[in-house]
Amino acid sequence: MKNSVLVTGGAGFIGSHTAVELINAGFDVIIVDNFSNSDMAAVEGVRTITGADVPFEKADCNSREELEKIFKKYKFDSVIHFAASKAVGESVEKPLMYYRNNVGSFVNILELMNKHGVSNMVFSSSATVYGQPDVLPATEQTPRKPATSPYGNTKQICEDILRDSVAACEGMKGIALRYFNPIGAHPSALIGELPKGVPNNLVPFITQTAAGIRKELSVFGDDYNTPDGSCLRDYIDVVDLAKAHVVAVRRMIENKGKAKYEIFNIGTGVPVSVLELVNTFQKVNNVKVPYKIVGRRQGDVEAVWADTKLANTELGWKAERSLDETLAAAWSWEKRVRNIK
Ligand code: UFG
Repeated sequence: MKNSVLVTGGAGFIGSHTAVELINAGFDVIIVDNFSNSDMAAVEGVRTITGADVPFEKADCNSREELEKIFKKYKFDSVIHFAASKAVGESVEKPLMYYRNNVGSFVNILELMNKHGVSNMVFSSSATVYGQPDVLPATEQTPRKPATSPYGNTKQICEDILRDSVAACEGMKGIALRYFNPIGAHPSALIGELPKGVPNNLVPFITQTAAGIRKELSVFGDDYNTPDGSCLRDYIDVVDLAKAHVVAVRRMIENKGKAKYEIFNIGTGVPVSVLELVNTFQKVNNVKVPYKIVGRRQGDVEAVWADTKLANTELGWKAERSLDETLAAAWSWEKRVRNIK
């Protein structure tokens, strides 16, 4: 029998790529999304890439009733929970919305998993839990820093909720994947990142600037204590990241885990500066990205990148795609969306 996975937020950027990789790896997938930051085109993209008639349910994970209908309608043994809000600034303005969307919905799902005997949960966590680590690269043992935004706090709280609920429920397992900076798009250019409004994140801002939608990129600070003065991050290709979820689900199904609850960093292990990223994008795609240096963005950490040893050795997962490939895919996607030849 094929294993089935419920993917909440499966029409989103990381969710849609993960749905594709799960199907490619032989899993059945059910996508749930409320389209708060996505639309049906992503589901169609998943269907076109895989040739699979992927079931889709429009539902809000905040609604236990809507969710329970899905738990009754389909049989699945694993859930990957992407559905969450993710804008740091917005979370400062609307903290309760973030606690409801990110924490409330997670509790709903875990309760329903307990009730319906669904065992395995992969949770989308973030390197944001490390804040500015005292020692780099960050390992999974690096202490978490007090969150600087409600968004960041929801990631820490949900990790703890998963740890505690897994410990209390026999047969249940959980894996938290701490993503570094996910970027790129599927090589088919049929799915990718399409933020609504002005992008907060670097790569969508770059692709939109290259496409002429934004006048110029603001580089937030060149006076950090880094080689070129701009911040360092660990940019992970979204297809590589998607594959990490497949491996995590398999690990739980096959009982390969060392513990009922595990945490893995998902990154490349290679720090890249903002200026390096902009220059690589321009070179690889032979396109101009006008930019100016402006002041630091409040809340930004200077540098963070992953120690990926645990994911490499324990999960048997490693980032494979080069930054050039990833930035070429990001540009192909933007060009397709904007009808640029
Ligand atoms: N940056 C710019 N100009 C922009 C956008 C970003 O210079 O227009 C810089 C930022 O200052 C930072 C780097 O590009 O140095 C990366 O910024 P992103 O916003 O793309 O990513 P962050 O590292 O800030 O964000 C990541 C995750 C978030 C998470 C956050 C917490 O994408 O989900 O870490 O630190 F909340």
